[in-house]
Formats: sequence, C-alpha cells, structure tokens
Amino acid sequence: MTPPSVSSDPPVAAPVLTVSGAVHAYGGKPVLRGVDLVLHPGEIYALLGPNGAGKTTLIRAICGRIRPDEGVVLLKGLDPTRVAGARSGLGLVPQEIALYPNLTVVENVQTFAALADVPRAGLPAAVRRALELTRTIDRAHVPIKHLSGGYKRRANIAAAIVHEPGLLILDEPTVGVDLDAREAVDAVIRGLRDLGVAVLMTTHDLDQAGALADRVGFLREGRLVLEGEPHALIAEAFGERMEVQVHLAHEVDAAGEGRLAAEGLERTSRSTVWTRLDADGYAAAAKLDKGLREAGLTPHEIRVREPSLANLFSLVADRKLAA
Ligand SMILES: Nc1ncnc2c1ncn2[C@@H]1O[C@H](COP(=O)(O)OP(=O)(O)O)[C@@H](O)[C@H]1O
Ligand SMILES: [Mg+2]
Repeated sequence: MTPPSVSSDPPVAAPVLTVSGAVHAYGGKPVLRGVDLVLHPGEIYALLGPNGAGKTTLIRAICGRIRPDEGVVLLKGLDPTRVAGARSGLGLVPQEIALYPNLTVVENVQTFAALADVPRAGLPAAVRRALELTRTIDRAHVPIKHLSGGYKRRANIAAAIVHEPGLLILDEPTVGVDLDAREAVDAVIRGLRDLGVAVLMTTHDLDQAGALADRVGFLREGRLVLEGEPHALIAEAFGERMEVQVHLAHEVDAAGEGRLAAEGLERTSRSTVWTRLDADGYAAAAKLDKGLREAGLTPHEIRVREPSLANLFSLVADRKLAA
C-alpha cells in the first residue's frame, strides 16, 4: 500500500496560461506547429523569433481571437474561445497602439475600463491605479496624439491593466520607443510582475529580453525550439566561450570582408561590427588586433564579453542549436 504523499515543497501557484499542442494554419499554410507554453503568476516570459515565426498568431490564439485548429489554450483553466469570461483575466497591448488619439490618457483608460466591465463605483480608483502603475499620471490630461512613443506605449499598458488582469500580453512593446523611454517601459513591466502579474511579451530587442525576462522561448517556424532562463541557456550553449567583438573604424570593401570572414568573424546587424566566439577570448582579441592591423583593417575597438541572447539567437536561427 502506498502511503499518502507528503510534500514539503511550497505550493506552486496554478498556471495563469496553459497552451498545449497549439496548431494553426492560415489558408493551408501552417503557422503554429504544436506549441506548448505555461505561464505562472509573477513571471515575465519573452517570446523571441524572426519575423513570420508565428508570435502574433500565438498571441491571437491566446486571446481567443482565433481558435487553434488543434490543441488548447486555457486562461486560468478556461478556454477563451468558448467561455467569454475567460478573457477578463487578460490584458493585451497590441503591436500597433490601439487608443483613441483625440482622447486624453485618462479618457482612454476610462473608456477601456467601461469596456472591461469595471464596476462604476470602483472606476476612478481603478483608473488612477492604472495611471500610477504605468507612470502616466503626469500626462493624464494630454490627448494621445500629442504624446511621445514611450508615453503612448505606457498609456496603452494603462488601458490594458485597468481591470487588473492576471496576465498581461505585450506584442513588440518597444517598437517605436527610444532607448530612455524603453527603460521606462521595462520598469513598468517589472513593477507589474512584482505585483504578481504574469507577463508574456514578444520582442525583437534581445537586450531587452535578456534584461527583463525570467524565461525566454524561441519560436521558429511555428515551433518553440528552445526555452528557459536566459543565463542558464547562454551558459549551456556557450560554456567557457566568450564573444569577441571587433568594432571597425570604417566600412570595409569586399576584400576586407573576406579577410574578416577568414578570421572566423561574422557580420552583425551593424556593418562595422563583427563577432566571433572563442574559448580564449582575451588572447584571441590580441591576436586579432595584430592580424587585422597588418591587413590594414584598423579595429577601432575589440571587446571581449559574455555571450548574450543575441549570440544564442543567431545559433538558433541558423539551426546550429535546437535543430
Ligand atoms: N491573417 C493572416 N492571414 C494569412 N496569413 C497570415 C495572417 N496573419 C499572419 N499570417 C502569416 O503567418 C505567418 C506568421 O505570422 P505572425 O504570427 O504575424 O508572425 P510574427 O508575429 O512572429 O512575425 C507569416 O508567414 C504571416 O505572413
Ligand atoms: Mg508579430
């Protein structure tokens, strides 16, 4: 006879979101090919992947805007395509700002609160809380169309959280937001996470994902091919290797590019920055510096640093990892 199981582990909170085996095709073209995803309260999950990988489609399925061809989406155990109330626990900040441009921040948030059935008596307090949490209170009475990109994005977050959802979804929250404003958006997202909100975001900004996410998942061609805590994934993929980054003073011609490639360097998104992974980073940097100078390719700077999510992303995208 088995004794009753006794566990000393702390209780794990029920998932806010469970996606299992989600499959979806648009007109016969498969876009999601079996996605599993579980989110718990108080965690930030960044969904990464190249354009067209299916990130927005997955979000639409989670929000109940499309019903997956196969598999299920559960919001706190309820199917949003069958149970209308299931969506009340969800706030969505779409990629394109979805606010009334002529209305002020506070008017927008009031409108969204009414749409989300926030009880009238609680409305002023709910609106105020949303503005405070998103640090938009100093622009409360400014029409949306007069706000900067960062404020617009935060005002959109305010509209999405006014009914206090347990799950906040942001699709590309930093598109059209400059660097300083991005940090303000990040701070708002962290603040919500600390209140126990589960955050699911998609982003192209790997630095943002690395700094913000408790977990990341790489979506490639409709499959989640790699998932985990950013530092653990990086350590597992790269071990002792370091990234050696060569910053060139000038653009180089085809011959120069050939020379850089011969050193095992790969071009990054910036034409003057080339990168390579090396177990012996500092010695490699010194050798590279000498070699490139001799070839007339004066490096402006050579940096040796821990590999980042961007390095991991290239491996995954190039199918050198998680094939
Ligand atoms: N409404 C639609 N009808 C037909 N194809 C679509 C539709 N929405 C997206 N797609 C296609 O599905 C694929 C995944 O798109 P999407 O989910 O938007 O990717 P991501 O957000 O990762 O860039 C793309 O090839 C895109 O062209
Ligand atoms: Mg998208």
